[in-house]
Amino acid sequence: MAPILSCLLFTASLLSTPSLSRTLFTYERKQLTREYVASLPEQDQELFAFDSTAAPNNTKPRCRYGPSDGKWPAEKAWTKLGRQLSSTDVLIKTTPQASVCYGEQKNDAKCQDLTKNWSNSYTHIDDPTEVLSPIYQGLTCQPPSIYNSGNCSLGGYPSYVINVKNVLDIQLGINFARNDQVRLIVKNTGHDFSGKSVGAGSLSIWTHGLKDMQYFENYVDESGYKGPAIKAGAGVQAFDLYKFANDHGVMAVAGEGQTVGVMGGYILGGGHSPLSSLYGMAADQVLGFEVVTAIGDFISANSTSNPDLFWALRGGGGGTFGVVTSVTIKAFKDMPTTAASWSFSSAKLGVDKFWAASKVFVDGITNLVDNGIYSYFTVVQSGSDYVFTMVPLFAPNKTASQLSSLLAGYQSKLTALNVPFSPKITEYKGFYPAWQAEFPLEAQSDVQTAFGSRLFPRSNFASETGRNLTFSVLRSTVEGGQMVLGFATSPTLAKAGNPDNAVNPAWRNAVLHAITGRRWDAKSSTTDILSVRRSFTNGTMQKWRDVTPGSGSYLNEADRLEPNWQQSFWGSKYERLLQIKKDNDPRDVFWAANAVGSEGWTVESVDGLPNENGKLCKAGSATTTSSAGSTPTGVLLG
Ligand SMILES: Cc1cc2nc3c(=O)[nH]c(=O)nc-3n(C[C@H](O)[C@H](O)[C@H](O)COP(=O)(O)OP(=O)(O)OC[C@H]3O[C@@H](n4cnc5c(N)ncnc54)[C@H](O)[C@@H]3O)c2cc1C
Ligand SMILES: *[C@@H]1O[C@H](CO)[C@@H](O)[C@H](O)[C@H]1NC(C)=O
Ligand SMILES: *[C@@H]1O[C@H](CO)[C@@H](O)[C@H](O)[C@H]1NC(C)=O
Ligand SMILES: *[C@@H]1O[C@H](CO)[C@@H](O)[C@H](O)[C@H]1NC(C)=O
Ligand SMILES: *[C@@H]1O[C@H](CO)[C@@H](O)[C@H](O)[C@H]1NC(C)=O
Ligand SMILES: *[C@@H]1O[C@H](CO)[C@@H](O)[C@H](O)[C@H]1NC(C)=O
Ligand SMILES: *[C@@H]1O[C@H](CO)[C@@H](O)[C@H](O)[C@H]1NC(C)=O
Ligand SMILES: *[C@@H]1O[C@H](CO)[C@@H](O)[C@H](O)[C@H]1NC(C)=O
Repeated sequence: MAPILSCLLFTASLLSTPSLSRTLFTYERKQLTREYVASLPEQDQELFAFDSTAAPNNTKPRCRYGPSDGKWPAEKAWTKLGRQLSSTDVLIKTTPQASVCYGEQKNDAKCQDLTKNWSNSYTHIDDPTEVLSPIYQGLTCQPPSIYNSGNCSLGGYPSYVINVKNVLDIQLGINFARNDQVRLIVKNTGHDFSGKSVGAGSLSIWTHGLKDMQYFENYVDESGYKGPAIKAGAGVQAFDLYKFANDHGVMAVAGEGQTVGVMGGYILGGGHSPLSSLYGMAADQVLGFEVVTAIGDFISANSTSNPDLFWALRGGGGGTFGVVTSVTIKAFKDMPTTAASWSFSSAKLGVDKFWAASKVFVDGITNLVDNGIYSYFTVVQSGSDYVFTMVPLFAPNKTASQLSSLLAGYQSKLTALNVPFSPKITEYKGFYPAWQAEFPLEAQSDVQTAFGSRLFPRSNFASETGRNLTFSVLRSTVEGGQMVLGFATSPTLAKAGNPDNAVNPAWRNAVLHAITGRRWDAKSSTTDILSVRRSFTNGTMQKWRDVTPGSGSYLNEADRLEPNWQQSFWGSKYERLLQIKKDNDPRDVFWAANAVGSEGWTVESVDGLPNENGKLCKAGSATTTSSAGSTPTGVLLG
């Protein structure tokens, strides 16, 4: 009894200690209050009023209003919104960048300049409305030499963007959109694979500018965590966070991609990292969020305040439960890191040896992930050859000689196959220089590919039969002309410190997250694109599902047409997530494709393709006469 008692006493005294570390950023202190709204003229109160979680008004319109509807807010209302925002440059009316290539705005020099820059991801990330997967915007304003859009129209781009400077701007945007039945979207960097950060006729909350960061050497909170932590704004990208952490002698769990918005869709959807085989997912590191809710309130979601939202925001997905303004995460002591890269091709080895050598690597990934290693590799067809590339194999907390010994087994198997192996192995002083040197800057995605992914469980690699089956599926994908991108990592619950959160349970057993994609000819008709997509989703991806029964897919790098996505993205966690969504956003103010609770609505795309170029309407309601006037695509959009 005595130790339990003293433990209780200790907890009690900790709770009463006033030295908790939580703080707000300056931009989080500028807020909208109910008193302020009440002080406005009555008409304006209606525009900016907060909501309640009372049952929704079911007589609301079938679709969110668009610019061509009579009930779309008048110019005067948008002007009022612009005036209430924290400064006059916050509200942006969308002008697609490539408008310089078409019609009245046409300027050949500017268009050429833009075309040259187009594949650079910064051209899109730093723009208010552009995204890296333009297919889901509807391709209505691309530079003509990339994709001929015919002319430039807004398509799936939002109509207006709030370039967020503070919490007040977000609250005003949410209240305005909700009260006026305008579609609301949230964009951070626009990295989303499925177009969740675009939407026709929407008001976009753009969080890219929220870059503040704060370091706590000894963070203390009621959850029991004591140690280094970083609080980072929603707009912080991987390169910002890693540098900041390094400047303080620590490292943080974030993505391999340089420009991913770590505190937006990435961490909200789970987040795999070069450190995941040591510490779990990025979402596992969260100590607390600051969030603006569907009601318009600014709240904390942490272990003691709004614990349901705290649970859901750690893996439940972006654009669904609120707009996050900052996230506080654990940080870790820096460690020496070694990386290895190599490549081999069937051109040199011949096809049989090539596949044998590739299989030896895939067969051995369990041993690597259990040693804290994250490997990023690609297998592609290039002309008539096949190429395996280890982009890097990333080994935190390992010296070059430790890594060489770990790879000795692999090397001896290659020697037995008569395959030469001389990887480039580099030891770095710490995590940051290793990450900086080893991971490439990502390019913008193209206009003619659908992607999908699958989490391959440990059990697939436990027997020779399992290894053979798994590999033959990956091999046949590549032989069919599709690439395989593999991320071998194992974010188990034990490594993550047993957090209880909404991360897909399939991640906990996975040792491999693999992505593939299928291209079509850019000039294909809608019918042909749909048929390619169907054979991808129900052909290639079905083979991947058949060999991994009961597992799932990573929602942040998934097929837009993923069947049974609720199970696939969240497994047994879906039911609770849906309840939390209903409790916190009964009016579906936040909606994104394949997000928790998205079943009730569908985008009626103007071209019948799965994209955001159409009105957001109640699902299954398309027979009602409406101004949307296009074929229902609810089947396609799931
Ligand atoms: C080149 C590239 C590299 C990648 N590397 C990795 C990787 O290493 N590991 C990994 O796990 N994933 C990786 N991803 C996938 C990445 O996690 C997702 O694309 C993720 O959605 C990006 O989030 P974002 O905020 O940057 O993007 P956005 O497209 O801006 O947003 C994505 C989603 O989150 C929502 N959202 C954004 N900000 C907020 C906010 N402040 N509050 C609430 N919702 C918000 C949006 O509404 C949208 O639904 C990569 C993707 C690309 C294209
Ligand atoms: C419900 O919505 C309709 C349409 O917007 C509106 O006319 C009506 O007044 C609303 N009812 C309530 C109780 O808010
Ligand atoms: C293209 O990129 C260069 C260098 O980053 C920049 O100076 C220029 O303004 C960009 N042009 C366009 C049209 O975006
Ligand atoms: C250009 O856009 C207009 C209006 O959006 C449309 O009516 C017209 O058909 C388009 N022209 C071409 C060539 O695509
Ligand atoms: C959670 O947020 C509340 C309200 O902001 C704060 O008082 C509390 O200290 C936070 N708790 C943790 C565990 O961070
Ligand atoms: C890093 O390596 C050291 C010594 O090899 C070991 O004691 C420590 O536990 C490792 N850290 C992690 C997080 O695995
Ligand atoms: C696995 O595949 C190899 C060839 O790659 C074959 O020699 C072996 O018999 C297979 N084993 C089983 C159990 O299927
Ligand atoms: C895949 O097949 C299922 C079952 O036949 C069907 O319901 C679904 O629409 C198909 N998906 C695609 C993208 O074609």
